[in-house]
Amino acid sequence: MQSHWTRQNLLGIEELSREEIDTIHLQASEFKEALKQPHAKLDVLQGNLIVNFFLEPSTRTRVAFETAASRLSADTVLLEGGRSSTVKGETLRDTAQVLESMNADMMVIRHSCPGSAHYLAQVLDIPVLNAGDGAHEHPTQALLDTFTIREHFGQNLTGLKVTILGDILFSRVARSNIWALKKLGATVTLAGPATLVPDRFQSLGVHVTHDLKTALVDADAIMLLRIQHERQSSTHFPSLGEYRGLFGLNGARARYLKPKAIIMHPGPVNRGVEIDSTLADSAQSVILEQVTNGVAVRMACLYLCARGRQQQL
Ligand code: CP
Repeated sequence: MQSHWTRQNLLGIEELSREEIDTIHLQASEFKEALKQPHAKLDVLQGNLIVNFFLEPSTRTRVAFETAASRLSADTVLLEGGRSSTVKGETLRDTAQVLESMNADMMVIRHSCPGSAHYLAQVLDIPVLNAGDGAHEHPTQALLDTFTIREHFGQNLTGLKVTILGDILFSRVARSNIWALKKLGATVTLAGPATLVPDRFQSLGVHVTHDLKTALVDADAIMLLRIQHERQSSTHFPSLGEYRGLFGLNGARARYLKPKAIIMHPGPVNRGVEIDSTLADSAQSVILEQVTNGVAVRMACLYLCARGRQQQL
C-alpha cells in the first residue's frame, strides 16, 4: 500500500484523511508484528531525542510514548508540569523552545489547554505530537481505539455501530474518536445524560440518545468514558451514585449488547461508576488490548512524523 503520510506533526484527527489513518494503522500493524519478538528493538530512530512534556497527569499515554520511543531506539526525556519552570512563571513557548534548543528531535505534549499542541507546532521547528489538549483532541487514543476495533471487525468499518457512552462534553477522547470513526465509515451514537451529551453534537454527523437501552442494543462496540471532574467547573448530575444508577454499565444492562460486541474504555477506569468491575475484566472487554495496541500505534506515529520531518528538510 502506498504511504500517504507527509506530515511532521500529529495534532488531531480532524485534519487527517482516511488514507493517512490507514497509513498509521498499517505501520502500527508492522510494528506490532515486530514486537512479538522477545526484547524487540528496532533502530529506526536511533540517535533521536524525544521530549515527553506532560503538564497533566498520565499513565498510559506517557508510558506508551516512552516505550514506543525505546522500542525504536530513541532516547527520551520526561518533563512534567509540576517539576518544570512553568511553575515559576515561564511560558509554554519559552519552555518548549528551551527544550528544542537542547537539540531535541521531537516533542510529545499533553496540556490542559485546547490548541496547545497546534500552538507549539507553530513556534517550533521539530515535530510535535499531541498527547491530549484539554477537551479538544487525543489523536493517538482514537488511533489505537480504531486500530483495536479494526482488529476485531476487519478493516472496513462501513455500517459498524459504535456507541460512546459517558461524559462526551468534556472528553477529548470522544471528539477524536468521532472524527476517526466517521472517516473510517462507522456509525457513531453518543449516549449519556443530556447535560453531558448535548443534542448539538448531532451537527458532527452522529446520533445522540439519552436512553441507555437504545444506546446498547445495536452497538458492535461500546466505548465507555469516565466523568472528567478535572474539566468541570459545575455539577452536571446529582451524584456519582445517581450517574451509576442511570448510565453505569452493569451485568444486567450488558445483556442488551450483541453477544460479539466489544467493551472499550480509554482508561483510567473508575470501577463501579461508569462500568462494574466484573464487566471491565470480562471476556467482552478489550481494555488491556487497547493499552497493548497503544505502543505499536505510537511507534507508528513517532516513526511517520520523524520521516515527514526528514522529507521537509
Ligand atoms: N487514556 C489516557 O489518556 O490515559 P492516561 O491519562 O493515563 O494517559
